[in-house]
Parts: sequence; structure tokens; C-alpha cells
Amino acid sequence: MTRLKDKVAFITGAASGIGAACALRFVQEGAWVVGFDIGETTNDTWKKAVEIAPESYFEIGDVRDEERIRSVIEGTVKRFGRLDIVVNCAGIASGGPVHMLPTEEWDRVMDINLKGTFLVCKYAVGQMVEQGSGSIVNISSIEGIEGSEGGSAYNVSKGGVILLTRNMAMDYARKGIRVNTICPGFVDTPLASETVLDNEILKDFRDHIIEAILLGRIGRPEEIANAVLFLASDEASFITGHALMVDGGFTVGHRFGITRLMGLE
Ligand SMILES: NC(=O)c1ccc[n+]([C@@H]2O[C@H](COP(=O)([O-])OP(=O)(O)OC[C@H]3O[C@@H](n4cnc5c(N)ncnc54)[C@H](O)[C@@H]3O)[C@@H](O)[C@H]2O)c1
Repeated sequence: MTRLKDKVAFITGAASGIGAACALRFVQEGAWVVGFDIGETTNDTWKKAVEIAPESYFEIGDVRDEERIRSVIEGTVKRFGRLDIVVNCAGIASGGPVHMLPTEEWDRVMDINLKGTFLVCKYAVGQMVEQGSGSIVNISSIEGIEGSEGGSAYNVSKGGVILLTRNMAMDYARKGIRVNTICPGFVDTPLASETVLDNEILKDFRDHIIEAILLGRIGRPEEIANAVLFLASDEASFITGHALMVDGGFTVGHRFGITRLMGLE
């Protein structure tokens, strides 16, 4: 398992869900990981990652804190001598119809999901330019490409992440840096379970979601991590500026049961 042998990766949102799954998948492929999150990690997935790659470590911090981001990335480069991969996974889900959404909440979502991604890229990309190589994977969402009821702030922040990705891909391609984004669909993590999947008020909605996912189930964090691994690795050496949907087919089209009439289910 050497798809990321000796690569150094910085992963935000590493305490939980998709970020922790990326950390584990990366170390299984030979990388060293610096995890970053606003909260302490109690996640078994992260613990397993450190058991495999003991030089990996975890830093507490807020992606909105520019000085903290700058110093943690500087520390990563000092410790390992390089920075090969960045995964921007830290994020929150929030929003609502615009007339009901407090302006401060709009700002909070933008600051964490979009500005936080910008700040991490801003302080990581300099080292990558110096090296002449690097791979950045930003985590957006299917909701960054299509609307959803009450999506507002969240969807706008994730749409912004896709455009930031494309613009960075243009600006840094000739410096050997690839920048891509993953658009997950519904994935079983604390973020999705608190907001939608296990929310008592929305429990009927969960069945509708599963019905609308072509593969008929919610995704697992490691399924997103596998796609992140591919884009982060040299196997994706000719891919940049791409937004990859990893959603079990949720955004492919609408189903009306016609295939059932055809005897396909
Ligand atoms: N789970 C899904 O269904 C789904 C779908 C599409 C996109 N996403 C995106 O995937 C990413 C990871 O989410 P997840 O589902 O693994 O949720 P999660 O809640 O398990 O993980 C998100 C992590 O981000 C951290 N975080 C939040 N605010 C932060 C801040 N200000 N600074 C640093 N860290 C912060 C949290 O502490 C948490 O550990 C998010 O960007 C989310 O928007 C998730």
C-alpha cells in the first residue's frame, strides 16, 4: 500500500467523519498526516491512523483563525520539510430560507466553509509552488452544484468552493500543483446525522433521500476518502480543476419507477 509513500498531508476537519477517514486511508498508503480541527479528536479512526503512522499528529485550531492556520502549516513544513497534499474537509451545515436566516449565521457558514478553505489554500500553496508540486482536494458538496430546499448559505459556500478550486487549478497548474474538489452526496457522519439523517423532525425525509439515491443507501465516510485518495495521489496526475460527484448517483437524474415497469427492480 504505497500510493502516497512518503507524502506529507495536511487535513482539516480531521477529528471526525470524512476528514478522519481520509487520515486513515492516507496513512494506510504510506503518508504522514497532520490533522487539524476545532475540536479534540476522540475518533477511533484518527487513533488508528496514528497507530499506523506515529509521526502523524493533531493540531487544534479554527479554520477562521488566519494566524493559527499560517503557523500550523509553517510548523508542518518545518517538521517534515515539505507539504504534498492538502484536504480541506472542515465544514458545518447550516442555512434556511433567506428571510429566516440570521445574517450572523450566513457569515458563520461562509467563514468556515469558504473563507476557511481559502485561508488554508493561501498558506499551503506557497510551499507547493516552492517545491514545484502539490495536490489540493477541497470538499464541496452536491449542494454546491444544485439547489436544495433551505440550502441558501451552505449551498452558496459549497458552490464557492468549486469555483475557488477551478480558479486555483488555472493559477497553479504550471507550477505543478493540481487542485480538485469532491462533491459528496449524503454520507453517514455526525454532520449529516445531526442535521438531516437522524433528525426526528425530518425522519420521513430520510426515506425520500434513500429512495432518490440510485444505489439505494447513504454513503460511508471511507467511500469519500477513497475518492479523495485517488485525486490526491499521482494516479490523478492529469486531472485538475475537476469536481467529482461521489453521491451514489443522487444527482444523475430523476427516477419515476419506469424501470420497475420494465422489470428491472
Ligand atoms: N456528511 C455529508 O453528508 C456531507 C455531504 C456533502 C459534503 N460534506 C462535507 O464534508 C466535510 C466533512 O464533513 P463530515 O460530514 O465529515 O462532518 P463532521 O461533522 O463529521 O466533520 C466536520 C469536521 O469539521 C470540523 N470543524 C467545523 N468547524 C471547524 C472550524 N471552524 N475549524 C476547524 N474545524 C472545524 C468539526 O469539528 C468536524 O470534526 C464538510 O465540509 C461537509 O460540508 C458532508
